Amino acid sequence: MFERSLRIRDFQAKDLEVLYAIDHICFPADIAFSRRDLLIGLNQTGSIARIAEIPDGIAGFILARIEDDRQGHILTLDVIPSARRRGIGSMLMEDLHRLLKLRKITTAILEVGTGNLEAQSLYERMRYRYIETLYGYYNGNEDAFRMVRLI
Ligand SMILES: CC(C)(COP(=O)(O)OP(=O)(O)OC[C@H]1O[C@@H](n2cnc3c(N)ncnc32)[C@H](O)[C@@H]1OP(=O)(O)O)[C@@H](O)C(=O)NCCC(=O)NCCS
Repeated sequence: MFERSLRIRDFQAKDLEVLYAIDHICFPADIAFSRRDLLIGLNQTGSIARIAEIPDGIAGFILARIEDDRQGHILTLDVIPSARRRGIGSMLMEDLHRLLKLRKITTAILEVGTGNLEAQSLYERMRYRYIETLYGYYNGNEDAFRMVRLI
């Protein structure tokens, strides 16, 4: 466990290249963010970007956005392979829920690949529930489940 040495902090502009590289390790090239889309996602109105830092550097991040309908939409959750199964993904989610609650947001939604059983397991443990299947959600190729949780 990294609990004592883990720090969760806000995104800073200097993190961009590391987050881009992590996203490309975590997802296939056709699903990972382009540099431009990541930059937009990190800086758009309502964006919440939180970084998990361990002594070795950035171990993961979460990117979400408070949308016009006042829902928190999780855009990505990434943890580097060498730091997985140590609770970092869960801690990033909990930190996000805390921030959403502070902003009086009561609902969080996300999409997860139908084949991504690891992430589905994490989200189910965090009380996210299936609401619909989005066919061809990832570039017309892979389907996704949309899931929701009341904060
Ligand atoms: C999904 C991901 C974010 C999980 O991060 P993590 O830091 O390993 O997650 P945690 O350690 O908090 O795991 C919490 C729970 O999720 C589930 N889980 C996570 N990884 C799992 C795996 N490989 N197999 C089965 N269950 C898994 C387990 O229930 C786990 O609890 P446990 O370790 O007590 O069994 C990480 O694997 C990742 O970055 N994957 C690639 C990117 C991705 O798919 N992101 C989600 C996009 S929707």
